[in-house]
Amino acid sequence: MDKLIVQGTGRLSGEVSVSGSKNASLPILAAPLLTDEPCELRGVPAVRDVATMLRILRHLGVRVAAEGNRIRMQPGGYAGVEAPYRLVSTMRASFCVLGPLLARKKRASVSLPGGCVIGPRPVDLHLKGLTALGAKLKVEQGNVIGTARRLRGTSIYLGGAFGSSVLGTANVLMAAVLTPGETVIESAACEPELADLGDVLVQMGAKIDGHGTPVIRIRGVRRLGGFRHQVIPDRIEAGTFLVAGAILGGELTVRGARAEHLGAVLDKLRQAGVGLTIREGAIRVRRTGRLKPVDVTTLPYPGFPTDLQAQMTALMAQTPGISVITEKIYPERFMHVAELARMGARIKREGTSAIVLGVEKLSGAPVMASDLRASAALVLAALSAKGRSEIARVYHLDRGYDRIDEKFKRLGARITRVKER
Ligand code: EPU
Repeated sequence: MDKLIVQGTGRLSGEVSVSGSKNASLPILAAPLLTDEPCELRGVPAVRDVATMLRILRHLGVRVAAEGNRIRMQPGGYAGVEAPYRLVSTMRASFCVLGPLLARKKRASVSLPGGCVIGPRPVDLHLKGLTALGAKLKVEQGNVIGTARRLRGTSIYLGGAFGSSVLGTANVLMAAVLTPGETVIESAACEPELADLGDVLVQMGAKIDGHGTPVIRIRGVRRLGGFRHQVIPDRIEAGTFLVAGAILGGELTVRGARAEHLGAVLDKLRQAGVGLTIREGAIRVRRTGRLKPVDVTTLPYPGFPTDLQAQMTALMAQTPGISVITEKIYPERFMHVAELARMGARIKREGTSAIVLGVEKLSGAPVMASDLRASAALVLAALSAKGRSEIARVYHLDRGYDRIDEKFKRLGARITRVKER
């Protein structure tokens, strides 16, 4: 297990390029299960979750060749329909193979994803949508076992207690494209990652209208072809670098950051007094004076993303004044709070909110990464803190950020990766 040693620098400057989106790549990598034709996805980030997804595809009989960030996939051959616990338990997105397997192979056995440190993550909406299409599903020994002899298009309302579901929409959408008749998904997730999946499916020959909006209409087709696609840039990685620029001062150009995917984030950063310049294919972030506290509430897209909540909390922890950070997607996603407190942050939990009393400066400390985005928040805090920090368990970071420590280093950060004994 690696850890990061970070010496607070106070300043970063230069240009950084955002990798392809992890959360767009993962469901798109399940799409080859819908066809026999070759498929190619470019710009795929070199992160651990992608490696896990590729192992699952191979297990299901897809021939996979990875050359750098380009993944070529040839479906066919041995047609496996089982995704076992040892592969699925480490990553929730792998549950997205259920919809394609049911639609194409008419049966599937996919292990239920395990619990997650960011709180309960049920799959009832996935199961509700697939059942509405006509799949017969049962849960046995931790696996969802399903058959889909006769699927039929229908109207499905996919909203849950916390709004829409990104991967739930992806699962049902991928089943519906091969389901006879018309399917209408209401309260569909609108995240850009889901819209990117929709674009891929359309390229494969699917008849879809409205992906990227709350109502998606699908007319099932009999068969689909392959695809060649460049995945969208990672808006969460882009947002992480924008927050880094805001915390650290200096001037940072974030290449690949798409303003149209980051509306709520740019709005909050501007309210906090951060200077932002939008250019073709890049956003420049510049901190000119003192920052102001802002309240943030996470919401489904186009609201403020939960995947940037921890990073924003790290920013507010160092912005004198009071800010309230409210989590409406994962009410328990506050593991970073205790670790930030070890660095001198003053944050109080109050139900689903964190009340942050910003201080002038944090101080370096040994801390522990608990999940992917919490780890990113700790890196940001450590980069700006006074003194040295040690961040343990950075494998969480490696699940979703493509060599982020190397990228920070090129911007002037003093950050070293060492093997933990
Ligand atoms: N939910 C249900 N029932 C379901 C599915 C979800 O109640 O069947 C609830 C969840 O518990 C949560 C809310 O609905 O409260 C939203 O969950 P969603 O299903 O949208 O999350 P997801 O699709 O499993 C993706 C991202 C997450 C990101 C969320 C929300 C991927 C691989 N994962 O998860 O990313 O936080 O959407 O935007 O796309 C991350 O990258 O760090 C990460 C956790």
